[in-house]
Amino acid sequence: MLDVLTAPAAPAIKHRQDYRPPAWLVPNVALDFALDPAATRVRARLEVTRNGEGDAPLRLDGDGLTPLSVSVDGLAVNDWRIEDGQLVVPLTGDAHVIETEVAIAPDQNTQLMGLYSSGGNLCTQCEAEGFRRITFFPDRPDVLATYRVRMTADKARYPVLLANGDPVARGDNDDGTHWAEWHDPFPKPSYLFALVAGDLACNAGTFTTRSGREVQLGIWVREGDLPKTDHALHALKTSMAWDERVYGREYDLDVFNIVAVDDFNFGAMENKGLNIFNSRYILADPDTATDYDYDAIAAVVAHEYFHNWSGNRITCRDWFQLSLKEGFTVFRDQGFSADQGSAAVKRIEDVRGLRASQFPEDAGPLAHPVRPESYLEISNFYTSTIYNKGAELIRMMATILGPERFRTACDLYFDRFDGTAATCENFVACMEEGGGVDLAQFRLWYSQAGTPRVSASLDHDGGRATLRLAQQVPPTPGQSAKEPMVLPLRIRLFGAETGQPLGPEQLVLLNETIETIVFDGIAERPVLSINRGFSAPVTIESDRTAADLAFLARHDDDPFARYEAMQQLMLDTLIAGAVEGEADHRAVIDAVADTLDDPALDPAFVAEAVLLPSESFVGDQLSIVDPEAIYRAREALRGDLGRTLADRWRTIYEANSSDAPYAYTPAAKGARRIRNVALGYIAASGASDAAEMAFRQFERADNMTDRQGALSTLVNGDSDLREAALDIFYNRYSGNALVLDKWFQTQALSTRDDTLEAVAALAEHPSFTLANPNRARSLIGAFAVNQRAFNRADGAGYRFLADQLIALDRLNPQTAAKLLPPLGRFRRFDPARAALMRAELERIVATPGLSKDLFEQASKSLA
Ligand code: PHE
Ligand code: ZN
Repeated sequence: MLDVLTAPAAPAIKHRQDYRPPAWLVPNVALDFALDPAATRVRARLEVTRNGEGDAPLRLDGDGLTPLSVSVDGLAVNDWRIEDGQLVVPLTGDAHVIETEVAIAPDQNTQLMGLYSSGGNLCTQCEAEGFRRITFFPDRPDVLATYRVRMTADKARYPVLLANGDPVARGDNDDGTHWAEWHDPFPKPSYLFALVAGDLACNAGTFTTRSGREVQLGIWVREGDLPKTDHALHALKTSMAWDERVYGREYDLDVFNIVAVDDFNFGAMENKGLNIFNSRYILADPDTATDYDYDAIAAVVAHEYFHNWSGNRITCRDWFQLSLKEGFTVFRDQGFSADQGSAAVKRIEDVRGLRASQFPEDAGPLAHPVRPESYLEISNFYTSTIYNKGAELIRMMATILGPERFRTACDLYFDRFDGTAATCENFVACMEEGGGVDLAQFRLWYSQAGTPRVSASLDHDGGRATLRLAQQVPPTPGQSAKEPMVLPLRIRLFGAETGQPLGPEQLVLLNETIETIVFDGIAERPVLSINRGFSAPVTIESDRTAADLAFLARHDDDPFARYEAMQQLMLDTLIAGAVEGEADHRAVIDAVADTLDDPALDPAFVAEAVLLPSESFVGDQLSIVDPEAIYRAREALRGDLGRTLADRWRTIYEANSSDAPYAYTPAAKGARRIRNVALGYIAASGASDAAEMAFRQFERADNMTDRQGALSTLVNGDSDLREAALDIFYNRYSGNALVLDKWFQTQALSTRDDTLEAVAALAEHPSFTLANPNRARSLIGAFAVNQRAFNRADGAGYRFLADQLIALDRLNPQTAAKLLPPLGRFRRFDPARAALMRAELERIVATPGLSKDLFEQASKSLA
């Protein structure tokens, strides 16, 4: 076993409890950039003031920087030193002006942190600790400065010069360069700094705030991409109006710019007044973007915009508080998206996402609390736990408070902490005070990792129903014993004979290990609907029978609970099939048939409800995952559903195909969704014409949702039309990187037996590169979540992933580290597979020159 503390790299672990306020503050900073892709000069002028008592020297973070000059109060000094990359300057007084100059090389920056080149333009990414790769600075979120930024660059090559805040002045020089100056009046931490220099075109708009101020909006992209920016611009305006209406939050600068770049480690970044986006979350037109892409673009545009208040006006004191801004902002963007279409379908999608990424994280070696206690590399903590579980925590508090008191409590938070760097504790205290509730025990959600399990059993005897609830929080790394948490469970009983509700819904706050709840006056046998709306992010284990679940799938009045009953029924059937080799499919088939036949249901909801749980989700329920058995059980059920309900799938397919031109409306989206689900079942049935149907859809489609849906169906099969479709798709979109990502991803997710061989060949394809994070994720990341292909018994999938991660780590450690977790799941596999996985993790850890990003992920996975 590997000891993290004595490992070769032995980098310093940071602890939450070690937080100390900064010794020096920087109220104002002026930056002067002489921009050049090969050698950019950065001059920084920092006004520094001592914070409190003491005579500590000024320590400025730096990463890969060498000072070309240092001056204090206008005089060059040479008594500075470099310690662990920090520039240490002894200072005698309490207020000084420090000036430094450094040179950096954006076009050598493959990590995509700091100032880098993307597609011939220059841009920055500073969260979390990228600013120290640009200039020496106290690069921590509790040092808030106002920034004045001057940029000089070649005018022909970089006609557009953008930075945070408002533009102040610009002009031309005699030597072919030009300059621009920007000023951001809002004090901000260094991670929110941004600049862009490039040859960009703008889709411009305006938004008038509720107090009547006009804001100039701009979406900046390559000229040729301008036609793909209307959806993002519209989403931005809608978000601005929504935040005013729902949270009372108004925008505060005269301009708001978004720049799209092709090379980006995450989705997007909320830099003050200058958001920088991965182009996949900006560019859309019907021919190249799916409905899923359109929805994701609106959600990410909203998310980054909402950060202006939850993140920028109020930032984080330290990175342990990351969920303060991310959990709350995800909750806010989920609310926004729910208001744009079907709230029920949005909740189903969000819970599916939580179960696909956060639940496994919480059950594995990388489990950590929503407010972590320690880290080696903060980039590794931009996790589903911080973001998505963090959002569930806010949702639970909103549920406990109710909408009005939640809004009051949010107002209190925004008023009280505006302009400061706050903590999760500050937020919870505002919920308590503004909401008039006691959240003492609730705070455990921030400190205890692991997904709570709730067991529920309902007895009925002589007019009285008794619900017995018990909770258990599983042990996680570093946390062997857990306290019971507060679990807000929305509960309702239904009469088994009448199908009618037996009384109103109740909100039960389960806060003991065991609790009993009594319902009187229950004449009929009751059926339990629990955790409605997924009111708590927990796993429910109940004694409900297949008949009870089928009943709820028909009668529950909460759409999420109805979906959930169906999923549970399917899950039980799939587990039986995987464990016993066969299962009775009748209850699932009947429930699916009834759902398809219910004319009152929204097609988008039906499409979600009739989809089987993923292979991975089935695996997550088993102590030892047998990927082949799960695959076989799932294919058997899919095939049976496809054959038994063959007429219905065809009727649905036809009824939802129309000659009407493409529209991005809820009705048209729902039709596309159910049609593509139906196509999948027709193919699963083994129907001889399925490949022709898919190919016809592929050829006739006027939109990417239908084209990609058909392609996925073909890619899973072995018809001759498969290769034809892949070639047509590739040739049609060879100039579009975002669509080529789909081409790679669809093949990496294929259910075929030869998927690993295909993926390994694609890694050698001329269009493949590890240097672009989207491309790396579309092939390597997608393959690693293809449970059966990745977990091939011979370990070739593990070896392939480890090889790719070691190669990627040399270019881009952050992106490599994000793709490691599937290898860390070895405890859930048979000894043979587990040994193969461990061997690959050990090989990664032993690689010379490994980044601390990948080292932390791999070594924690082994621990
Ligand atoms: N803060 C970004 C967000 O909105 C995510 C991000 C983190 C982007 C780190 C880049 C680097 O969620
Ligand atoms: Zn965010």
